[in-house]
Amino acid sequence: MSENLRIAVIGAGGKMGMRVGANLQRSDWDVVYTEQNPEGAKRNEDAGRTIISNEEAVPTADVVIFAVPDTALNPVTTAIVPMMKSDSVVLTLDPAAAYANQLFMRDDLTYVVAHPTHPSVFLERTTPEEWADTFGGIAAPQNAVAAMFTESDKWKPIAEKVIATMYGPVLKVYWASVHDLAVLEPTLNETIGCMIGQFLKDALDHTVEVTDMDEDTVKAMFYGHVYIALTNALRGSNPFSDACLLAMDYGREAIIKDDWKRIYDDKDLDIVIAKMLKLDKIER
Ligand SMILES: NC(=O)c1ccc[n+]([C@@H]2O[C@H](COP(=O)([O-])OP(=O)(O)OC[C@H]3O[C@@H](n4cnc5c(N)ncnc54)[C@H](O)[C@@H]3O)[C@@H](O)[C@H]2O)c1
Repeated sequence: MSENLRIAVIGAGGKMGMRVGANLQRSDWDVVYTEQNPEGAKRNEDAGRTIISNEEAVPTADVVIFAVPDTALNPVTTAIVPMMKSDSVVLTLDPAAAYANQLFMRDDLTYVVAHPTHPSVFLERTTPEEWADTFGGIAAPQNAVAAMFTESDKWKPIAEKVIATMYGPVLKVYWASVHDLAVLEPTLNETIGCMIGQFLKDALDHTVEVTDMDEDTVKAMFYGHVYIALTNALRGSNPFSDACLLAMDYGREAIIKDDWKRIYDDKDLDIVIAKMLKLDKIER
């Protein structure tokens, strides 16, 4: 069955559409592509992928990948999911819209959401191609975390193969609930991880601004310390020094609010996802 899959990629000319399209194009499956935007369509044509209409692509597809922005998933799934054949798979690439009940639902379909992990900061990259592939999906191995709305023994292993192929090279596809995937993305990854990543850059820029040092000097000191901070904290590679621990306590008191863990409450998760989807609130 999985060898004879027909897969439709909706929004094939977007950022993720181009990435998953390039990987699926190399598979043995019958993959078709749709894209409403002329520039996105041209990007596909330039890459050797033909754009067809949703009406041509969707009704015969076993798996329909919705690579459209999360804010568009409600109107796009409302228009396209009714065209899908019974017992096929809706595959989305981020849990926000699924969490917020924004997808057009049908009882006779299987719904899967899968997010790439991106290659680990601790990945042992051995080639220039792996080193250059910061996002993943080209040369550096990554993982994926997927969730199903309704368990399907038939579709789960097939969905796993599609996910591993479209985000490949993939080491492992992990499975979680939609809720828990939303706790990873956005809460852990974006609300905390990406925010702190950007905060490191803001702090670097501020250091250059308030000292007589140039950016190179500050970067030379900071980049190594960022790595040792991550490997000490996340892998326990070395203990932080006693003086460093005191400075860390000072920083935590000065910067982190006491109630920061409230962002893990469902009420807060609803708030951030509503903001991301530009909704007034999440409807239950
Ligand atoms: N970009 C990332 O880094 C990233 C990473 C992981 C997951 N995702 C997820 O992948 C999905 C796609 O995100 P993206 O960043 O590739 O999106 P994008 O902004 O690049 O747009 C993707 C495509 O959707 C099409 N599109 C936009 N509005 C449309 C509409 N109303 N009807 C039909 N098509 C429409 C556009 O033409 C475009 O080609 C989202 O669910 C996103 O959360 C994105």
